[in-house]
Amino acid sequence: MLIPWNDAFIVGVPEIDGQHRELVDLLNRLHTESQDGHHEIAPATFERLEEHAMLHFKVEETLMKMLGYAEYDSHRQDHGELLAQLKILRQQFADGAQRQQVIGRLRDWFLGHIGQRDVELASFLDALSAQAAACQA
Ligand SMILES: [Fe+2]
Repeated sequence: MLIPWNDAFIVGVPEIDGQHRELVDLLNRLHTESQDGHHEIAPATFERLEEHAMLHFKVEETLMKMLGYAEYDSHRQDHGELLAQLKILRQQFADGAQRQQVIGRLRDWFLGHIGQRDVELASFLDALSAQAAACQA
């Protein structure tokens, strides 16, 4: 398995957490398909991963904007850079060369982004719900 699910990925918003799980599943599937000789399926999985990433980033960005998150611009920029990279990686992947290297880059990005940007977002969301709870008390 490329990325075993880890509860440290949980940000506390069910919609985002569900999408992160789906991203992990797709990355793991891509990895398995590339290893198991399902080479014809893997490019379709890559496209699904790309579509899912686009949808997921939109959801996160809408939430960040709605809540006035201070790191919105830099977080969004990180998403944009990945989407631009995904286009290049998709082509490299479809060409069939260095697939494991492409998958390794996707894994590093995912773990890096979730481990830093999304964890920062999670603490902001935690602080916000603590404030809301304090106001209701
Ligand atoms: Fe994100």
